[in-house]
Amino acid sequence: MQYNFDEIIDRSNTGSVKWHYSDDTIPLWVADMDFRAAPPILASVQRAADYGILGYTKPTGALYEAIINWHSNRYGLDLTQDNILFSPGVVPSLALMMHVFTDVGDAVLVNDPIYTPFMTKVQQNNRKLVTSALKEVDGKYQLDLTDIEAKIVAHKVKLYLLCNPHNPGGRVWTADELKALLALCQKHNVAIVSDEIHQDLTLTGHTFTPFLKLAEAENYAHKVVSLTSMTKTFNVAGIKGSMIFAKDETLLKKTSQQQQLNDEYELNLFAYTVMQSAYEHGEEWLTQMLAYIESNIEITLDFLAGHLPDIKVMRPEASYLIWLDCSAYFDDDQVLYDKLRAAKVELNSGIKYGREGHLKMRINVACPKTLLREGLNRVYAAFMDD
Ligand SMILES: Cc1ncc(COP(=O)(O)O)c(C=O)c1O
Repeated sequence: MQYNFDEIIDRSNTGSVKWHYSDDTIPLWVADMDFRAAPPILASVQRAADYGILGYTKPTGALYEAIINWHSNRYGLDLTQDNILFSPGVVPSLALMMHVFTDVGDAVLVNDPIYTPFMTKVQQNNRKLVTSALKEVDGKYQLDLTDIEAKIVAHKVKLYLLCNPHNPGGRVWTADELKALLALCQKHNVAIVSDEIHQDLTLTGHTFTPFLKLAEAENYAHKVVSLTSMTKTFNVAGIKGSMIFAKDETLLKKTSQQQQLNDEYELNLFAYTVMQSAYEHGEEWLTQMLAYIESNIEITLDFLAGHLPDIKVMRPEASYLIWLDCSAYFDDDQVLYDKLRAAKVELNSGIKYGREGHLKMRINVACPKTLLREGLNRVYAAFMDD
């Protein structure tokens, strides 16, 4: 079946976080796609509603099997039912794992730039936020292992929150990069929580490596969990729901006990339903969606090269978010954001992702091509209006 990603669906006045405007602004910001969910997912929700009983629900053997098969077939990550915990979201799990691996006042290391909640959750949970800037080499971010080790030692870091693949830079860290990071953390006894929510959006030519697989091979699984979800992959973020994967029995027990404190270990009926149908029947939709995204990325890169050649563009290796260095055109973050809003297009302001995001913007290209083209015209208009 050929899915139609060109369809424009009116999302205004639906409570959509992305489409929050009272005018005709085009949203190219938050990581939410403007595509209808895969028909097999929608059919599973419909079936659950038609059945008519919405009572207390627990994960079934078939759901576990769908999760296990997806991760084994795509990434060679071998899981058993006992390795899987459920959680309302990846961000809630980042906070939860901070309580498992650290105490108040302990230092937690994150990269800069980074998806904003990595920083805010550390601060809100009264841990000490330590950042290590990514290095830009040949238009790509790299981990600065020398800086990371120096910060680990100087601040007695207990936990590293890794974003794999990276948001906002779009890097899919290679197995070698991850192995080097693992060796460093192992040397200094630092735990790692790997946020892998963008794993399934890895683009052609790149290979996603589950961090847990490496940790297990190095006998470090007692200090590592990975967090992932079907929500980003299948554009079902409003459903909420995610997983925590771990391989060490004691760590799983500790994590589960931490979840019990707030009774936050279950998902709702629709989250289980969507998770299962997505992993069982969503792969063809995902393949077609990624091809559409890849062509949208090319359209965007071509447009910017032709119209705004001094924007330095980081070509993503995963996902539909593109990191743009606009420093050749602007010298103030707020002015940059406001100019775009005035031109009726919204992008994410890079500075929200850390100091390294100064004069950068993140653009989301996961929308029908007609919307994207109009959005890009508005970006151009904003940059020309000075
Ligand atoms: C790296 C990363 N982690 C987590 C999330 C959100 O996860 P959740 O909605 O499950 O809390 C996002 C959403 O954009 C993300 O980019």
